[in-house]
Amino acid sequence: MAQIIDGKAISRQVREEIAAEVVSFKEKYNCAPGLAVVIVGNDPASQVYVRNKKRGCEEVGFYSESYELDESTTQEELNALVEKLNNDEKIHGILVQLPLPKHLNETEVLLRIKPEKDVDAFHPYNVGKIMIGNHDLLPCTPAGVMVLLEKSGIDVTGKKCVVIGRSNIVGKPMAMLLLHANGTVTVCHSKTQKLADICREADILVASIGKPEFVKGDMVKEGAVVVDVGINRLDSGKLVGDVAFSEVEPKASYITPVPGGVGPMTITMLLKNTLTAAKIAREK
Ligand code: GUN
Repeated sequence: MAQIIDGKAISRQVREEIAAEVVSFKEKYNCAPGLAVVIVGNDPASQVYVRNKKRGCEEVGFYSESYELDESTTQEELNALVEKLNNDEKIHGILVQLPLPKHLNETEVLLRIKPEKDVDAFHPYNVGKIMIGNHDLLPCTPAGVMVLLEKSGIDVTGKKCVVIGRSNIVGKPMAMLLLHANGTVTVCHSKTQKLADICREADILVASIGKPEFVKGDMVKEGAVVVDVGINRLDSGKLVGDVAFSEVEPKASYITPVPGGVGPMTITMLLKNTLTAAKIAREK
């Protein structure tokens, strides 16, 4: 039987720490950390995320602005908004919700966000800083996974870590953070041969592929730590991760559930990044 890593409880604890820091930030600087969230179009999943981000900001005492732009927004209009937010002193963090509608160039938008306000850590400057291990801002989901491991007392040093998935948002930065924590890291993806064999060697297995219940019981070593980053909605409406929980849980030593595992940590880490960005801006 695995120990369930309670992402909701850990998230609550970290948000309380952030809220306490916001109180002293406000006393010291007479302003609140400010986050701007931009969403283009009406993807329902993105709208849910954006609503949760706004609620998270209120909970810890941030100032927040949200921009819900029409699907037909042009690149020039979006660029102009980013420019305005870059120059707005009340705003310390800017998040443009991805994916953007097809006619907009994601890379161009991410490049225009000032790196010091890039609370997603998606700007190539921040990606580079993460690569060399000298970073202020970390991508929210992988950073959240590291906090879950730390708070559960799981030491990564010397462990064989397998990350399934190589996205820029999760897989690649996840691998880098595990490497910085002294793990021995393998990244698997859709073209990987003998993927199940590689997974079975993992002491720490992170599933971030976006395929419902992809990781089966026979792909996991007895006693492994299993982290499920997936959020998949089945046709039945049920929310499942990338891990077949009922098969894997009896073999794992620790496991994150879906929902209530990694999910709540993502927005928490966004709040943490915004606080960090605000502190750096004010201490300059
Ligand atoms: N879309 C899915 N996850 C994320 C995220 O962490 N940040 C942004 N900006 N868009 C996303």
